Amino acid sequence: MTLAKTHLLPATDAGIAQAAATLAKGGLVALPTETVYGLGADARNGTAVAGIYAAKGRPSFNPLIVHVPDIAAAQNYVQWNEAATHLAAAFWPGPLTLVLPLREGHGIASLVTAGLDSLAIRCPAHPVARALLAGFDGPIAAPSANPSGKISPTTAAHVLGGLEGRIEAVLDGGAAAIGLESTIVGLTSPIPTLLRHGTITETQISAVLGRPLAQATTPAAITAPGQLSSHYAPEAHLRLNVQSPRPGESLLGFGPVTGATCNLSAVGDLQEAAANLFAMLRRLDESASQIAVSPIPDEGIGRAINDRLTRAAAPRAPRQG
Ligand code: TXA
Ligand code: MG
Repeated sequence: MTLAKTHLLPATDAGIAQAAATLAKGGLVALPTETVYGLGADARNGTAVAGIYAAKGRPSFNPLIVHVPDIAAAQNYVQWNEAATHLAAAFWPGPLTLVLPLREGHGIASLVTAGLDSLAIRCPAHPVARALLAGFDGPIAAPSANPSGKISPTTAAHVLGGLEGRIEAVLDGGAAAIGLESTIVGLTSPIPTLLRHGTITETQISAVLGRPLAQATTPAAITAPGQLSSHYAPEAHLRLNVQSPRPGESLLGFGPVTGATCNLSAVGDLQEAAANLFAMLRRLDESASQIAVSPIPDEGIGRAINDRLTRAAAPRAPRQG
């Protein structure tokens, strides 16, 4: 994906309005937060979210954090609970992300959660992020605004250094004060779990909750829980790079193939395919036990699609419970 020009927008009413309008059209806007700059897209628009992965050149799909203006907005998307009430009262707006079960009718694109049933949600404190959330009036999915494998940006200039020409705009809110991504706490099981360390410490969090936190079991689980076993895995058996499906297989197509039960993108557009991937895998998993998948070009965002499909096709132990 190459765009002609990335606009550097000032944090004025006009700049914020232009950023909000760009998000509403499905564009990508880097925005300042108090932790690091995020690469934002409308969290309800799967194609826009696929654009985040394309712009970052990320070779895999990690679930993303959704940014909201307040608790009431968060409650539109997740099943809220008592621990969330206490933590949000203590630390929102601020650098704390809560992972909660998705609620029915949430409307969040499945690529945001990488097909999980839970959503990471955070209410940023940065005044420019808050002004953009108010202007856009919707949920903003945003990972750090750096190319994959590079350090997280804390100024608009860093963002441009990495992503110029790949995103529509950067909203310049000055230097990010914290410079380290938010602390992430998982609230999907009865015992709150520390999923990522950040400036809000485990001690502060357990003091508010009145109990110790469970630890994600390995260091890798803390930095990349999205890569681990909690990740959505289909029940059905997957066979990849299939030109002609066998009898009994449902075909997840790509490009102009015939006989597909679902087609990731009939016109062969990788960004559209990424946007459809998790929803279509789920749909097929409900009706089929054998899924054949058309070849997906292993280039650009196709690498992330193939990474996810390869994980989904890998043999694994029978699931518990
Ligand atoms: O400070 C921050 O949090 C920055 C700014 C831009 O807000 N954002 C950020 O987003 O760091 P991101 O997308 O890079 O962090 C996403 C991480 C994933 O790698 C994963 O570790 C965790 O959040 N995550 C997201 N959804 C999850 C879920 N449903 N369950 C468990 N972990 C999740
Ligand atoms: Mg990052």
